[in-house]
Amino acid sequence: MKTNLIMLFLILVGCSNNAKNTKDIFLDNLLSQMTLMEKIGQLNQYSSFFDVTGPAPKKGEDSLKYEQIKQGLVGSVLNVSGVEEVRAMQKLAVENSRLKIPLIFALDVIHGFKTITPIPLAESASWNLDLIKESATMAAKEAASAGINWTFAPMVDISRDARWGRVMEGAGEDPYLASKIAVARIKGFQGENLNDPLTIAACAKHFAAYGFAESGRDYNTVDMGYQTLHNIVLPPFKASAEANVATFMNSFNELNGIPATGSNYLQRDILKGDWNYKGVMVSDWGSIGEMVPHGYSKDLKSAAKSAILAGADMDMMSSAYINNLEPLIKEKEVSIAILDDAVLRILSLKYDLGLFSDPFMYCNGDRENKNTQNARNRATSLSIAKESIVLLKNDKKLLPLKKSGIKIALVGALANDKDSPLGNWKANGPKNSAISVLEGLSRGNKNVLKFESGPRLINKETFFHEHVDINNSDTSGTHKALKLASNSDVVIAVLGEHGLQSGEGRSRTKINLPGLQEDFLKKIYKVNKKVILVLMNGRPLDLSWIDNNIPAVIEAWHLGTMSGEAISSVIYGDHNPSGKLPVSFPRSLGQVPIYYNYKNTGRPGPGGHVFWSHFNDEKNDPLYPFGYGLSYTEFEYSNLNIKKIGDRSLQVDFKVKNIGNLPGKEVIQLYIRDLFSSYTRPVKELKSFKKLLFKESEEKNISFVLNTDDLGSLNDKGELIFENGEFEIMVGGSSNTRMSQKITI
Ligand code: NOJ
Repeated sequence: MKTNLIMLFLILVGCSNNAKNTKDIFLDNLLSQMTLMEKIGQLNQYSSFFDVTGPAPKKGEDSLKYEQIKQGLVGSVLNVSGVEEVRAMQKLAVENSRLKIPLIFALDVIHGFKTITPIPLAESASWNLDLIKESATMAAKEAASAGINWTFAPMVDISRDARWGRVMEGAGEDPYLASKIAVARIKGFQGENLNDPLTIAACAKHFAAYGFAESGRDYNTVDMGYQTLHNIVLPPFKASAEANVATFMNSFNELNGIPATGSNYLQRDILKGDWNYKGVMVSDWGSIGEMVPHGYSKDLKSAAKSAILAGADMDMMSSAYINNLEPLIKEKEVSIAILDDAVLRILSLKYDLGLFSDPFMYCNGDRENKNTQNARNRATSLSIAKESIVLLKNDKKLLPLKKSGIKIALVGALANDKDSPLGNWKANGPKNSAISVLEGLSRGNKNVLKFESGPRLINKETFFHEHVDINNSDTSGTHKALKLASNSDVVIAVLGEHGLQSGEGRSRTKINLPGLQEDFLKKIYKVNKKVILVLMNGRPLDLSWIDNNIPAVIEAWHLGTMSGEAISSVIYGDHNPSGKLPVSFPRSLGQVPIYYNYKNTGRPGPGGHVFWSHFNDEKNDPLYPFGYGLSYTEFEYSNLNIKKIGDRSLQVDFKVKNIGNLPGKEVIQLYIRDLFSSYTRPVKELKSFKKLLFKESEEKNISFVLNTDDLGSLNDKGELIFENGEFEIMVGGSSNTRMSQKITI
């Protein structure tokens, strides 16, 4: 028996060594057969000819691209999806090219493929890492079943600026939360094994600092110190690399005078050097070519040279590599070793995805039918949508509403919108496929009933009136809406941004409710004070007037396919809201950039004079802080006790009790402050959290351990430094913490 086990072990070890060797031998062998142009071709990525997300290819180029695919001069294609389409294009490559190297098919699967989940900012508000992972697993399964191998997600850019439209695509302002979410999403997309036909390769983007575009104007310049770069911007990228994300994408912006796409410092020194990253770095759309208008490269050839030397392996849509690398190599401006390294990274990904064993392994029509838009996926989308909702205000417990016996007026341009809730980057989500708030609140919706545990009492007295389109000057419906509002017990107003008012290229200089909506809301409020505002938006908005007047506010973001169902479950109290903001909401635009982990300055004030760091016309603090969100129940924090473990770690214990009379989930947050250090530290830094369900009146003992990584910070070279001294530990249900204690370690 013993001998047999040893034999088995030896066979297994032999197998795993063989597996490794088999891959290396296969790739080396393949590389050795490739011509120079075939190698360069692997670095070349084109978009298909529909759904372009940037400048469309000029006429006539399409046929060139097809020819190049046949000649093995294209490594990857984006924006082709669907088993039949992918199969047709893959055939072009493997049936015509000399070495039959398969293409990788990429798509921006940002929050769902056909079944759409909440936009990433919304999902982040759930602080539920298991659900976030499940949402990515489901998206991967749908996309992989439609032939996709690679998504350009997660976007792990930190942003502090609500003017930037891509805030919707990230996890908000905090590097700790964003790192955890990045890892959950990567694990969800990639699963245990890229070779599994239901998983896809993920991509951590945009490397780096894209979220710090000056004035929030997309693609704008970034100039940033090394403290912010290492401690705020890079941590989610590092966490992604450590979680074995298959690919990275560089970014459009320049960072401190050098376009990120051409940055040796970011790509060669930090990513492929310090972090020893072995995956693929793809450029952003045309970003190699954009180094010319940046004023960094004199022409496309020198842009190609800078990018490949800096570590950009694949050229998305610039045609810079395919047209210039051959002469650059012949002129010895770029070495074959650099080229081979990039080619091997891409071939290795194709190998890991299983494409060499079977280029059509992701092209199975039955799987496509079975795995997309099914009931299970909708149920997943619904659970994450519910947990993404943040209750911002609930005066006099106006919410939840009774299911009958009150007359509700439902108004606002987004109340019956079935497309906006899908948000930007909705991949292949069919137009108008979301459940609207009107549908969610109404009976008769089979989709709604399918996911309810039993038939739900739908309010018979709900009336709907659509007012005006967002940004439209048509106010003709106002009169009817006001009449309805004045004759109702309660008004539900669904307002905000339509689905394409945030996202790439959607920067705004005003962050209040767009168009005529705030005026409309003021008029409604005049005739009926009992207003519940449901917000749909992809960024923090200026809600100051609303907070001063409207009694109940639900932040419902763009929640995806099951949006209206999730919102109605909160309105009627079937779901107790538990979302917490992953971004600070400012009091006014002038406060932006605003974030909870700011530095104290030398004049934190308030002083008895004007000379302290403040605004003369506005408070310093945000309207709703990071980590904030209400529940229909309440939680009490007590008994904070901090112990040293050795001379570099701390144990933090306390109690949390549900003091309300219904069950609810709480996001328990722990923040630290290092009071003195050689590099100044923020006034608060999130270092741990737990989301737990509490039964009615339940009390739990909570315990966290903080170690050197949590207590230390990074110096200008990105190295961890830990200094003994005084720390403040704070805990609570938001960044406005409830309890704190100081300790010297
Ligand atoms: C440009 C965007 O910046 C990037 O995030 C996206 O993945 C590519 N376009 C491809 O669509």
